[in-house]
Amino acid sequence: MKNNKKGKLHRQTAIVTGASSGIGQAIAVALAADGANIAVNYYSDENGAKETQSQIEAVNGHCILVNGDIGKQQDVKRLFDQTKEAFGDLHILVSNAGIQKDSPFLEMSYEDWDAVIKTNLYGAFMSANAAAKAFVSQKLDEAISKAAGKIVFISSVHDRIPWSGRVNYATSKGATKMLMQSVAQELAPHKIRVNSISPGAIKTPINEDQRDSEEEVKQMLAKIPYGRIGKPEEIGKAVSWLVSDEADYVTGATLYIDGGMTLYPSFGEG
Ligand code: NAI
Ligand code: BGC
Repeated sequence: MKNNKKGKLHRQTAIVTGASSGIGQAIAVALAADGANIAVNYYSDENGAKETQSQIEAVNGHCILVNGDIGKQQDVKRLFDQTKEAFGDLHILVSNAGIQKDSPFLEMSYEDWDAVIKTNLYGAFMSANAAAKAFVSQKLDEAISKAAGKIVFISSVHDRIPWSGRVNYATSKGATKMLMQSVAQELAPHKIRVNSISPGAIKTPINEDQRDSEEEVKQMLAKIPYGRIGKPEEIGKAVSWLVSDEADYVTGATLYIDGGMTLYPSFGEG
């Protein structure tokens, strides 16, 4: 069965990694609402993946659920194989899976460094690499998509804002920025578009522990000139535009969706 909705992603197939919660879940639902078939990758949260599936079905979309650790080569291969088996050609990869394991640098363990880099950076590399190989092996059908394939990395404002106490995380996102730009440069002649969306503070499980008290919320809001925390759906809609033909001339770009967090808010008063 395939998604029959005639939205701007009609007849396209998307893989969304880490789609059992938060931003990944919202992206999967937004792409399905615009007509794409979705492979919902999830790590361990099967209930979360099922929730994504019911939200996709509520917008008359269609998906498969594929369990797998995005930091493991064999799991990435299985994700792409199962997607191809279910839907045929692949058009979109959203590399979203990501984790934080925070600690002061002086106390940071090799294990916490390794886990974050493995999921956030190696996972992004391995899934983008598999997507690119799929895109170049397929026949371009411009009636479906003008580009031969689209990759979106969900990076972070911390691909440019250094972040003490989270050196592993900020390093993974800083590296993702150069991964995105270099791959975009290399694959443009193949008509593959590669971009990043770099969110600021979005209300999801990843930053629950930064919103534990009113004081912490106040501190977070002080970093956001627009005066509110973002919603996962606001990232989902932007991804849907970025992978559509409306954005066909956009490649190698980073879209910061952050309520102004990257505008050096502490300089706001001169
Ligand atoms: P989240 O914790 O809800 O989502 C992370 C997802 O990644 C989860 O579904 C989790 O199961 C999955 N995941 C973790 N390890 C995995 C693995 N090894 N293999 C496959 N999936 C795995 O948090 P959120 O916020 O939705 O995070 C999504 C992405 O957005 C991450 O890359 C994060 O760095 C990024 N981001 C989040 C921001 C925020 O304020 N919420 C801001 C900027 C970037
Ligand atoms: C982090 C969140 C944080 C946000 C803004 C994201 O990359 O994952 O924990 O709230 O950046 O600092």
